[in-house]
Amino acid sequence: MLSPLPNRITSPSWWQLLNWIADPLGFQDRYSRKYGDIFTMRLSGLGSYVVVGNPQAIQEIFSLDSKFDVGRANELAKPLIGQNSVMLMDGNRHRRERKLLMPPFHGERLQTYAQQICLITEQVANQWQVGQPFVARTAMQKVSLEVILQIVFGLSEGERYQQLKPLLTDWINMTDSPLRSSMLFLRFLQQDWGAWTPWGRMKQRQRHIHDLLQAEIEERRTKENEGRTDILSLMMAARDENGQAMSDSELRDELLTILFAGHETTATTLAWAFYQIHQHPDVLEKLLHELDSLGENSNPMEIAKLPYLTAVCQEILRMYPVLPVIFPRITKSPMKIAGYEFDAETTFMPSIYLVHYREDLYPNAQEFLPERFLERQYSSCEYLPFGGGIRRCLGYPLAQLEMKLVLATILSKYQLTLAEDKPVKLQRRGFTLAPTGGVKMVMNGKREKKLSGYQLSDISVKS
Ligand code: HEM
Repeated sequence: MLSPLPNRITSPSWWQLLNWIADPLGFQDRYSRKYGDIFTMRLSGLGSYVVVGNPQAIQEIFSLDSKFDVGRANELAKPLIGQNSVMLMDGNRHRRERKLLMPPFHGERLQTYAQQICLITEQVANQWQVGQPFVARTAMQKVSLEVILQIVFGLSEGERYQQLKPLLTDWINMTDSPLRSSMLFLRFLQQDWGAWTPWGRMKQRQRHIHDLLQAEIEERRTKENEGRTDILSLMMAARDENGQAMSDSELRDELLTILFAGHETTATTLAWAFYQIHQHPDVLEKLLHELDSLGENSNPMEIAKLPYLTAVCQEILRMYPVLPVIFPRITKSPMKIAGYEFDAETTFMPSIYLVHYREDLYPNAQEFLPERFLERQYSSCEYLPFGGGIRRCLGYPLAQLEMKLVLATILSKYQLTLAEDKPVKLQRRGFTLAPTGGVKMVMNGKREKKLSGYQLSDISVKS
């Protein structure tokens, strides 16, 4: 006999699916109030998911991570990123792929990219006119796209770069609202009838992108790549334990995966950071004081170590998890989690959102309080903006570095204010959540450095 799933939501599965697409946070609030921190939703056409907001249960899941299949639970993303993406792999293939992809995103390699991130940020910010409003998310999307193109793809000029840039933006923007995102979840909308259907238009653009990436990969194979530091070159040079390199289709799908996973997420998180920082003048003042204490032309890696800036980024990632849940985990055999017995083929969905808004972990969870990260250390199941276990976000060191350097570069040079005095709400954007309207801001002029009344001792890390 099959074990019953805990706390099943009883409304029709099509209704649950529509609510999940339209408002995944409201959905989780409603049912966690009713059932507590573990409940089961059923999404029409997709199956049942056990949503988990309990840190101990998530810890159990992370410690058993190799006993789950994750790749096949990510099938929804396959039409976008292709079947040779690390996100869709499991077992040995996943382990091999992560090993090949990991080195460029970690350790000393990152230092190579820091200066480039600051330069890209300055180029984007230089386009702002005094007194003219701009949308923070759009500006941040320009920065993060340029980071992916230059640092990951190794493209900063030429015809292919000029073609890819608008094409990638248009392709990603095709799911920029809850309605347009629904085609990712509703399979009957996935009809490729050329330019007549949104899906057809998306596929057309994707084919064009594939062709351009394939041409770039082929050209690189015929050229000497020595001395190149971009991530594509490093991926092409990487070998697994059998001396095997990545195939062209793997390289192409992984480039799209990195774009898909790393571009929107970082841009959205930065837009929220500008929103919250400019709603809290005290936070801005402390940040500026900390940044000014470094002096002119400071090493970007020193900026990345600043404690208050780090706490601000941590708090933004807590309050606004771009992915409200981590990747679903499917049990390969029966197992016990949180005291419940589960059969094989049960899908778990650990919820970043439910954990990050627990009052027992984060008192006054609705408030933006970076200091909480200076006062307390959180474990990997209490704070999980980048997921965890063997699937932990591959690009998290790059994402964190980018967030800090972009904020530091802009805040220390420009005076910005919010253009509108009204709360910004979240809305679905593809698989992610983003600020409605993108956070409108105004640049009021260049900033002159001045020391504020804060003492650096106020913002040192407490052990
Ligand atoms: C603020 C920015 C970002 C956030 C919040 C974020 C969050 C996440 C989350 C929650 C996961 C799922 C982990 C799990 O299920 O345990 C993930 C996976 C992943 N992320 Fe990120 N990410 C960000 C930026 C990036 C960047 C910049 C890159 C690459 C340049 C990237 C590449 C990936 C990849 C390749 C995976 C799949 C890992 C696997 O399946 O093994 N992400 N990310």
